Amino acid sequence: MSQVNDLSDQIEKQLPSGLVEFMQTAGLIAANQGHSLHLVGGGVRDLMLGRSNTDLDLVVEGDAISLARQLASITGAKITTHNRFLTANLKWDKWDIDIATARSETYTRPGALPTVKPGFLKVDLFRRDFTINTMAIGLVPDRWGEVTDLYGGRDDLEKGLIRILHEGSFIDDATRIWRALRYEQRLGFKLEPKTLRLLKRDIPMLETISGDRIRHELELVLGEEFPEKVIRRAEKLQILPELHPGLRGDGWLNRSFKAARTRVFPDKPTVELYLALMAYRLTADETEKLISQLRLPKTHTQTLRESSRLRAGMESLAEPFAARSRIYSLLHGYRLAAISANYLATDSKVTRKQINLYLTRLRYVKPSLTGSDLQKMGVPPGPRMKEILQKLLEGRLDGKVNSKKGEMEMVGE
Ligand code: CTP
Repeated sequence: MSQVNDLSDQIEKQLPSGLVEFMQTAGLIAANQGHSLHLVGGGVRDLMLGRSNTDLDLVVEGDAISLARQLASITGAKITTHNRFLTANLKWDKWDIDIATARSETYTRPGALPTVKPGFLKVDLFRRDFTINTMAIGLVPDRWGEVTDLYGGRDDLEKGLIRILHEGSFIDDATRIWRALRYEQRLGFKLEPKTLRLLKRDIPMLETISGDRIRHELELVLGEEFPEKVIRRAEKLQILPELHPGLRGDGWLNRSFKAARTRVFPDKPTVELYLALMAYRLTADETEKLISQLRLPKTHTQTLRESSRLRAGMESLAEPFAARSRIYSLLHGYRLAAISANYLATDSKVTRKQINLYLTRLRYVKPSLTGSDLQKMGVPPGPRMKEILQKLLEGRLDGKVNSKKGEMEMVGE
């Protein structure tokens, strides 16, 4: 890890050139407005670790919204402003850049969103979660690449430690409990002993956080490369029961998450699938409680309910000689994530084979004859037509018919 105080080389080596130019333009505008501008947070941490991170957070000791407007008009970036938080977001090319006014934050009560006031960089960095996220890099031309490290962030990065900045950090914002675990497991770091003690002390503070914010944290966990590590750690520290007492971070979860990556989604499994696996061993009532506690959106709610329903009917799929049309009717209409969760979770080889057959072949099967073909053959639209189409589909699935001609004969029977 670089210990130099000038990271300009690293910026140019590690970040795409378009993004470097974008930051240079931002630095110039800020300097012209008479303000300092810094890259802060995860972008700096990852630059120092040599990890790729192109989500940039910039902080200006001045008006972020006016800086963002000028930047948007020069670069053509799409701008969204949040006046209450003195921040703006720019979408430019494929990049996402947040610009904030350096600010202090106070919490009216634990778990509430903070009240913000413009301030200096030093204060802005102090309000942050962990020391490794408090470093900044200068972006105005005459401070380009210069490191600001006021709270020992670099030291902790070297030692591999996650450390909060003050005793009340988890009380102010208990979502930091989940964030601490995420960084710890992602980076292979350790919680610094005092931070660990305060984290344990403040676990009950998670109750001050709204369902929406907790869900967001869980989505971030499930977006990690190895989410099972975070869940396992959360179980060890007694944090997992705060989500739902029936959840487990055990060997089964480990295996099924790994299998989701290797057997279903070689790229990256969806949050929805991971969530269905987490909830797989809950009862239907427990699943409902989790859904309402996390205020899950409609699609995820449906997946969890369907996964639970499918699980209850899994025995029928363990039948080795089940007709293909039977397999189809047992699985058709369910969301893919719910089916995949059952595929990964079942102990039965036969069931796994049948689900695989459905996912790779059966779900694409269709009769050649369509409704309008049937109409031409004298079948009026209505329940009778539906029944014929269903029979044709079953015939196709079970291999009783395999040509359009054969289907026409079937209709004539
Ligand atoms: N932050 C904080 N407390 C929180 C959330 C965020 O102090 N509860 C600060 C941290 O300084 C963090 C920055 O806001 O670095 C940006 O937050 P976010 O984008 O969530 O984190 P990153 O550091 O970019 O981490 P990740 O790599 O997980 O995106």
